[in-house]
Amino acid sequence: MEIEHTTLLIQKRILLGVTGSIAAYKAVDLASKLTQMGALVDVIMTDAAQQFVTPLTFQSVTGRPVYTNLWQSDISGGLAAHIAHIGLAEGADLLAVIPATANTLAKLAHGLADDLLSITALAARCPLLVAPAMDGGMYQHITTQTNITTLQDRGAFLVDPEEGRFASGLVGLGRLPETPTLIGALRRALGNDGALSGQKIVVTAGGTRESLDPVRFLTNRSSGKQGYALAQAALDAGADVTLITSAKGLPMPYGARIITVSSAEQMQQAVLTQIVGTDALLMAAAVADFRPHSPASHKIKKTDESSTLVLTLEKTPDILLSVKERRRDVHRPRVVVGFAAESEDLINYARSKMERKGVDLLIANDITASDAGFDVDTNRVVVLASDGSYEQLELMSKAKVGEYIIRRVAQLLNHRR
Ligand code: CTP
Repeated sequence: MEIEHTTLLIQKRILLGVTGSIAAYKAVDLASKLTQMGALVDVIMTDAAQQFVTPLTFQSVTGRPVYTNLWQSDISGGLAAHIAHIGLAEGADLLAVIPATANTLAKLAHGLADDLLSITALAARCPLLVAPAMDGGMYQHITTQTNITTLQDRGAFLVDPEEGRFASGLVGLGRLPETPTLIGALRRALGNDGALSGQKIVVTAGGTRESLDPVRFLTNRSSGKQGYALAQAALDAGADVTLITSAKGLPMPYGARIITVSSAEQMQQAVLTQIVGTDALLMAAAVADFRPHSPASHKIKKTDESSTLVLTLEKTPDILLSVKERRRDVHRPRVVVGFAAESEDLINYARSKMERKGVDLLIANDITASDAGFDVDTNRVVVLASDGSYEQLELMSKAKVGEYIIRRVAQLLNHRR
């Protein structure tokens, strides 16, 4: 699938410092994906990094010069050697050292400046992110841990390494995470001061599952993709995000607190607990409207006598209605966004749903369209506001719909300060 430009990353100048770990090969994929997402990636390699990967490899995926040497302009991406570090540091949006060896972490923590990367780190005033990668217990060594704490105390973002098998054959903590995690961490660092910085946002996602017996449940066709895209957009805007989800098989957005639920009732409990102190609730979940009245405690068996099975269903709790009730007393969440899946008379049904459920914004979509709604990566929605206005958005990716909705939520929160 083609990688889409991501608003947060477009034209962002990322200084990617690559140091001497076998995980340097993973930084190539990272540099490639970031470039495809619209970022301008300037790679600085230490001498040790070049033992594992060549500068040409990075240059090929970023389409930009790669910087390797403090002393010689011809191998410093053409920048005059004595000022290369200033030029690189100036205007950078983020310095990300990936992978970061124990040696480089020590240099960064203590201000050593004896190569292009460490000297640039001292000249840079942008946020610093480090993703340590090292073998055989070096990560847990008190020296490394102290250096990491020093960097974090100064505001550096840390990407925790993962457990697993090292190149040495040993197993332990110190492996560099895969590209999606690294990109999630970079997005978090870049979006930290965004429009929703300091705001608490709760997002629900996925179709709920209502138990019929121990092996069966009733559910719907919702994939949860739009809810996850909203959570990512809120993270990109710097929010503190809780994702209450019943979706299966989607990658978790980096930095979100995840609460996994199954039924409408569990989702209701989670939402009512979480909305205390919440600024905005986005109810993107496709909550089942009905559930089996009395779920069987044993597997329902076929019988020879009957060729049909009659199920009695009862209504599930309406989560948005219970939030509306709660909101009257506690005035939280300050903004509530509902969703409406309709198959006819979209605007009229959506308007009455908006009023009934007491939401500030309602995102309605026509589920009969094949390129929008359930399971696909695109959506075509109408956004209704409580003042009666509405906006029809063109067909776009769920990521872009998510960004649009988050912009609207940020505007509403700003007005209600
Ligand atoms: N919703 C909810 N609790 C439910 C059902 C739905 O909170 N038990 C929320 C959904 O998360 C969504 C909004 O209500 O944000 C509208 O969902 P939708 O299924 O379109 O509406 P319904 O309440 O089912 O109304 P109708 O049957 O008229 O379509």
